[in-house]
Formats: sequence, structure tokens, C-alpha cells
Amino acid sequence: NKVVLAYSGGLDTSVILKWLQDNYQCEVVTFTADIGQGEEVEPARKKAVSLGIKPENIYIDDLREEFVRDFVFPMFRANAIYEGEYLLGTSIARPLIAKRQIEIANRVGADAVSHGCTGKGNDQVRFELGYYALKPDVKVIAPWREWDLLSREKLLNYAEANGIDISNKRNGGSPYSMDANLLHISYEGTVLEDPAREPEESMWLWTTSPENAPNEAEYVELEYAGGDIVAINGHAMSPAAVLTELNRLGNKHGIGRLDLVENRYVGMKSRGCYETPGGTIMLKAHRAIESITLDREVAHLKDELMPKYANLIYTGYWWAPERKMMQQMIDASQASVNGWVRLKLYKGGVYVVGRDSADSLFDARIATFDEDGGAYNHADAAGFIRLNALRMRIAAHHRQLKK
Ligand code: ARG
Ligand code: SIN
Repeated sequence: NKVVLAYSGGLDTSVILKWLQDNYQCEVVTFTADIGQGEEVEPARKKAVSLGIKPENIYIDDLREEFVRDFVFPMFRANAIYEGEYLLGTSIARPLIAKRQIEIANRVGADAVSHGCTGKGNDQVRFELGYYALKPDVKVIAPWREWDLLSREKLLNYAEANGIDISNKRNGGSPYSMDANLLHISYEGTVLEDPAREPEESMWLWTTSPENAPNEAEYVELEYAGGDIVAINGHAMSPAAVLTELNRLGNKHGIGRLDLVENRYVGMKSRGCYETPGGTIMLKAHRAIESITLDREVAHLKDELMPKYANLIYTGYWWAPERKMMQQMIDASQASVNGWVRLKLYKGGVYVVGRDSADSLFDARIATFDEDGGAYNHADAAGFIRLNALRMRIAAHHRQLKK
């Protein structure tokens, strides 16, 4: 039968391709997506052909707009962050890849899908929860959990023995395990496995170091409609164009580096470094526009639920009913999240310097420290405070009586 493989064109997934052909005697269909990883995807076609894949079994898609519009932007409406720091750059791309892989499986009549994740990480969970949610009886083949090519050396030997080019190393020879898309790039493994040790400057590929960023601050104005950015400095842009432009600005000003030890779903702690230049700007700006357009209790409820929502995305439950339910609630809150935010970018920092909205709930007449002409009755506050203090006064009396 047929199996659809999530194929990057790199060494690991090329070995998997060959291994599937040999061990499952199945017809392999490859799927390669451009989600903004910054690497050409067309070379994957040539590579697949050279490994014996029929041209009609090679799928290459540009998913950048769908990725930002239907995954990144909805997640940013929630201000999602995992463990207080991680902007979920890898986590949010997996559900889309799984979805597209299943669509292709259905189209070509494949009953199996395969991926190149190890058995130790989060990504295997994210892919497979997506597969099962969208195609309940699909057969999943995870070669890393089955084969014995567990060391780099064994893998390279297998590649050489099977005529797979190993000189063409991805990542320009970077030693790290990396994953990239329009939202972020991640680095894990090798020297990062010592959490005490600072990574060398050359590891960071997507941002200038804050030290080398321009000495001049740069202003940028973001326009929001329904909680999403629709224009930058007055220019209307598509979702992917917005994120591409914010990545450019963030890169230039050294914004969005993160060095983190996180808890993986499978139970271990893992050290990773991330660059999320545009996402770091978006998070700051979104909170600023919400600060004037959301009701207090709506904003606080969103904040209480956010860690739960972020956890669902981190652990791979994008397609689960509870994530969809939360999304509906989050999306409903965004109807009033319109207006603009002005930011200053400077040496690794994102500073909000202005915001306004036709839907603003900020009432200058009421908020003023000057005379408010009776808009707010100061005397109301006395009773408000006494009633809120009531239970503490009762308890204090009680303590005094017992003495
Ligand atoms: N630790 C991050 C996460 O779980 C990044 C994973 C990167 N994945 C990869 N295949 N290199 O989201
Ligand atoms: C992997 O193990 O394949 C990458 C890391 C992760 O999924 O967390």
C-alpha cells in the first residue's frame, strides 16, 4: 500500500524514505511544505526523484498564508506562552503539517503516514494526535521508534550504503537539531545539553545580537482588526506578509532570543534556544491593544485560561474539542480588539509608546487626576472599600475577643 511521509529533503527523512521502501515494501508519497523555514523546498523534489519516488507521488505546498492565518494568528489572540517564556513556534506548526499530510493520504488513498521525529520528544505526540484526530484508523509509522539506527554513525552508514548523499548537510553545517517556520527557529542538542553553558553567538541565525543592533530606535505602527494585525505603518498586508515584515524588524533590532529549559510532555526537561523576532513584537503589541479594548473581567479570564490553552498547544491537542471550545471563546473576545499600537524597537527591547482605538474603553474624563466635573463620585469609594473590608474586620474583631 501507500504511506505519506513528511519529507524535508534532509538526511534524516531521506534515510526514512529509503527505510520505508525496504522495510514496508510500500509506495512512498512525499510531502514537503514551505511554512517559512527559509529553506528552498524545490530541492526536495529532485531528492525524492533520485530516491525513486514517482513525480505524481511528490507533493510540495506553500502553506505560509494558511499557517499564519489559521494557526499563528488564532494562537496570538490568546497571548499564548508556555511556561512563562516559550512562544510555541514549533508546537503550532505541527497540527497544520498533520492536517495536510492526512489530506494527501485521503487524496492518494494511502492508509499510513510517517514522520521523522524521535521517540523522546514532543513532536511525535503532536503529529500523531493530529493524524488520529483527523483520520481515526490511520496507520502511523515512526521509524525512530522502530529501527536500530539510533546513533549518528549508524544513520550515516545506512545512508552511504544506500547511496544517499550525506555531504549535503542541512542548516549550513550547524550541529544543532533545528526546526524553523515563519514564527520561529529552534536549536536543541549537542552543547546545549549542558544548561549551564552559554551558546556561542554564531548559533543564532535569525537575529542580530542586541549589542550589534542599531543605536537608533525605530518606530513601528501596527493596525489591528478583530485581534489580528492587518497593516504595518499604514500598509495593508496579508498575515504571512505581516509576520515576514515583523521578523525583518525584529531581526534588525535583536528582538526575540530565548534560552530556556522546558518540560517536555514525555516527562524530561530539555534545554532549547529560540528566536521568535516577529512573534515577540506581536505578543507585546496585542496585549497593548487589548489593554484599551477589552473589559477587565474578560481580559483577566483570558489570562487565567491562557496557560491551559498554551499547554494544549504544547502537548499537541490543537485538534481536540477543548482547544476548539477555548478558541471560540477567545475569538469571541476579539470583536472589539481593533485600533493601532505604536512601538519603539531598540536593542532587543520592544516598547509600547502609544495605542488608540475607536473601540477604546479608556475614558479620559473618568480616569483623570484633574477635576473630573462629577463624572466619578469619589464618595462612592468609601462604601466600596468598607464592604470589601467587612470580612477582614469581622475576623479581626474575632481575634481580639479571643485574646
Ligand atoms: N522544544 C520545542 C518544542 O517542543 C522545539 C522542538 C523542535 N523540534 C525539532 N524537531 N527540532 O516545541
Ligand atoms: C524530536 O525529538 O524529534 C525533536 C524534539 C521534540 O520533538 O521535542
